[in-house]
Amino acid sequence: MTTDPQQAPWRPEDATSRRSFWEDAHHGKDVDSVSWWQSVPELSLDLVDRTGVGKDAGVIDVGAGWSTLVDHLVERGFTDVSAVDLSRTALDTVRERIGTAGESVVLEVADVLDLAMGRTYAVWHDRAVFHFLTEEDERDDYRASLDRHVEPGGWAVVATFGPDGPTTCSGLPIVRYTHADLAAEFPGWALVDTSGDDHETPWGTVQQFTAVLLRREG
Ligand SMILES: C[S@@+](CC[C@H](N)C(=O)[O-])C[C@H]1O[C@@H](n2cnc3c(N)ncnc32)[C@H](O)[C@@H]1O
Repeated sequence: MTTDPQQAPWRPEDATSRRSFWEDAHHGKDVDSVSWWQSVPELSLDLVDRTGVGKDAGVIDVGAGWSTLVDHLVERGFTDVSAVDLSRTALDTVRERIGTAGESVVLEVADVLDLAMGRTYAVWHDRAVFHFLTEEDERDDYRASLDRHVEPGGWAVVATFGPDGPTTCSGLPIVRYTHADLAAEFPGWALVDTSGDDHETPWGTVQQFTAVLLRREG
């Protein structure tokens, strides 16, 4: 993992400031005004495909923001799709966009560091959330949420900035990962496949992403 010694000093360090920061990051904004926007989340869809799960498998997108992943999963016939995020605005945008086709999609304001959905899923998806966790205790909380919410033999897709990616995201310091370093963050999970892409932001700059497909052992 690579951290930047020049990284910005401020970051939200508790649940209240996290929620307020991320609500502000979305409120009053256009979907394509954020660097992570993509109209088709090809990397994510490809990795979900690689799990080979059936269309009735439970899939949760954590820190979904206003990503179109849930729209595309519904379009592909997935019937048990959930997404959580700290920003009510982001999830309201998704609810409005998916309309009646996505009525069954569960959208909840929740903190992935303290997630309590009361059920398990076959697939956990995270694009650009884990990399904000610069502190070990936050990563411990994330792993505890992951382990509580994925069934034995279930899958996790985790995508972060790669070793040549930016050192901040949304103005916050992040941790950049190689595939090996990212997989090593998840003991009890086997590395099944790797991927990555050079994400082009809406204003044309490029951000290197690292992605891993993990399978829960036992
Ligand atoms: C960089 S954006 C990525 C959004 C989306 N995954 C995508 O790829 O378009 C990070 C998202 O994670 C959400 N987020 C950040 N920390 C979170 C947390 N602790 N729990 C839930 N959501 C969080 C933010 O509100 C934001 O929508």
